[in-house]
Amino acid sequence: MNARVTVLGIESSCDDTAAAVLRVGYGGSEILSNVVEGQARLHAPFGGVVPEIAARAHAEKLDICVARALREAGTGLHQLDCIAVTAGPGLIGGVMSGVMCAKGLTAGTGLPLIGVNHLAGHALTPRLTDGVPYPYLMLLVSGGHCQFLRVDGPEDYTRLGGTIDDAPGEAFDKTARLLALPQPGGPAVEAEAARGDPTRFAFPRPLMDRTGCDMSFSGLKTAVLRARDAVMTNGTLKASDRADLCAGFQAAVRDVLAEKTRRALAMCPDITALAVAGGVAANASLRDGLQGVAQEAGVVFVSPPLALCTDNAAMIAYAGAELYILGRRDDMTLAARPRWPLDAASPAMLGSGKKGAKA
Ligand code: KG4
Ligand code: ZN
Repeated sequence: MNARVTVLGIESSCDDTAAAVLRVGYGGSEILSNVVEGQARLHAPFGGVVPEIAARAHAEKLDICVARALREAGTGLHQLDCIAVTAGPGLIGGVMSGVMCAKGLTAGTGLPLIGVNHLAGHALTPRLTDGVPYPYLMLLVSGGHCQFLRVDGPEDYTRLGGTIDDAPGEAFDKTARLLALPQPGGPAVEAEAARGDPTRFAFPRPLMDRTGCDMSFSGLKTAVLRARDAVMTNGTLKASDRADLCAGFQAAVRDVLAEKTRRALAMCPDITALAVAGGVAANASLRDGLQGVAQEAGVVFVSPPLALCTDNAAMIAYAGAELYILGRRDDMTLAARPRWPLDAASPAMLGSGKKGAKA
C-alpha cells in the first residue's frame, strides 16, 4: 500500500465489543491498540447469545472501548484519518450501536466514516497479518460460518462454496454437548481427540460424492449421536469411548475440509496463497490437514494468529483502510445491515450456519 493512514476500527456485530487503532502503509500495518470486551459471561446462563442483552452491553461498552483503544495507541481523535465501523452482517441491535457510535464520532470530529462488511474484515485479515497479495483463497471457518472465498480486492469476492447446513464450529459444539463436554466445544473435542483412535468409528464424509466445494456437517453430529447410543447400550460411556468418538468426528471434519479445499484451489489456478480464519482454525489437526493441501498445490499457507482470527476491531480498521485508500466514503445515511453477503452475485445460501449472521 503506498499511502499511510491511521484508522479507528469499531466492531459490535455479535458478542464482542471491540475498538482498535491501526496504522497502515509503507510496506506494512501496525496495530497500535486492539481492545476486545467479550460478553460471554452475560450470555452463559442462556446457552447462546441473547440479541437484546448483546445490544445493551455494546451500547454500554462502546465508548469505553474506543477511549481505551485511543489511550493505549497514544493517539487522539485528531490524529486519525478516518473511522471504520462494522455496518453488517450481524445482530442488528449490536451493529446499530456501533454505527451510531461511529456516526457520533464523525459528527463531532468531521472525520470520514467508512462502513465495513464484517466478513470482509475476516477475509482481509491475511493481508493485515502477512501482506498476502491479491488474489488468494480464503476459508472462513467459525461457529457461524463456513465458506470458500476467492478474494480479488477489498470489494471483490467470489464465493466458491460453503456449508449447506451447520458450520463446523457448530458441529464441534453440538458434538461436545452430546458427549457432556464443556462449551465452546471445539477445544474440548480437540483435547479428547488427541487421546482417541480416529479409526474406531467410521463416520461419514458428507457430500464427498458431489462435485464442487459445498459441505454439510449436520449429518455428522447425528452419526456421533447414534454411535454414542450404540456404545451406551453396553453400559456407560467410558473415557476411551468419548476420546474415540471425538477422534473419529474430528478426522471426518478434517477429511472433508481438506478435500473441499483441494477442489476450491483447483477452481483458482492463478492464486498463490490459501488462508484460513475463524475460531475453528485454532484446531491443530484441521490446520495440519489444510497445510498439507496447500503444500500439495504449491501455494503458501497463511493462518493468522487466533486473536486476529476471531472477532476483533483491528480487522475492521484494516478493511476500512483499504477502502479509504480506494476513495470509498460513507455519510450519515450509512445503514446497519443484518444480512450483507460479500459476493452479491452468489445465490442466497442456507449455508451461513444456523446460528445466524455471525462469522
Ligand atoms: O470465530 P469464532 O471465535 O466465533 C464465531 O463463530 O464468530 O468461532 C467460535 C467457534 C466455536 O464453535 C468453537 O467451538 C470453535 O470456533 N473452536 C474450535 C476450536 N477452538 C474454537 N473448533 C475446533 N477446534 C478448536 N480448537
Ligand atoms: Zn466474525
